[in-house]
Amino acid sequence: MADTTATVTPEQTAADVAPDGVRRRDFLDIAALSAAGIGGLAVVYPLVSQMAPSRDVLAASTTEVDVSAIEAGQSIKAVFRKQPLFVKRLTPQEIAAAQRDDNASLRDPQTLAERTKEGHGDILVTMGVCTHLGCVPLGAAEGEVKGEFGGYFCPCHGSHYDTAGRIRKGPAPTNLVVPEYEFTSDTVIRVG
Ligand code: FES
Repeated sequence: MADTTATVTPEQTAADVAPDGVRRRDFLDIAALSAAGIGGLAVVYPLVSQMAPSRDVLAASTTEVDVSAIEAGQSIKAVFRKQPLFVKRLTPQEIAAAQRDDNASLRDPQTLAERTKEGHGDILVTMGVCTHLGCVPLGAAEGEVKGEFGGYFCPCHGSHYDTAGRIRKGPAPTNLVVPEYEFTSDTVIRVG
């Protein structure tokens, strides 16, 4: 074990050494470092505070989507905070497939109900960003491959997402992200 005892050299006077063995210079060094640390915090905080987006900027970065025109089995691609957003109306078959697998062995366990809003279980809202390295998965546009689980497929490294946007196969670690959103009417969602 390391020897933590302070060594006192013959040149040092008793006044240089505190009763607990910490030399005065050590204490001054520690005090100077602490002051620098506090000063650093004081300088950094206003910078961070200035960098935080204002309420106006945040409000402007919400996205509204009218889901009334989306037919069962169709998705639309929108943009939310400069990133792709998928809004999909699930078919009864897709809902049944997702619910059937709610209790399957899932890498990132979540039920379909947990990923949708009550009363709107057929509307799935996810970011269109693969959780592996950020590619845009296929499956939202008509004719695109949907992968082995019928949801989305990321062609970059082969991640397969199911009809609830849950990761089922491939390197992606987590489900497609469901952003914060709410229904502002029966047919309109506001994301963000
Ligand atoms: Fe999607 Fe790698 S970025 S699988």
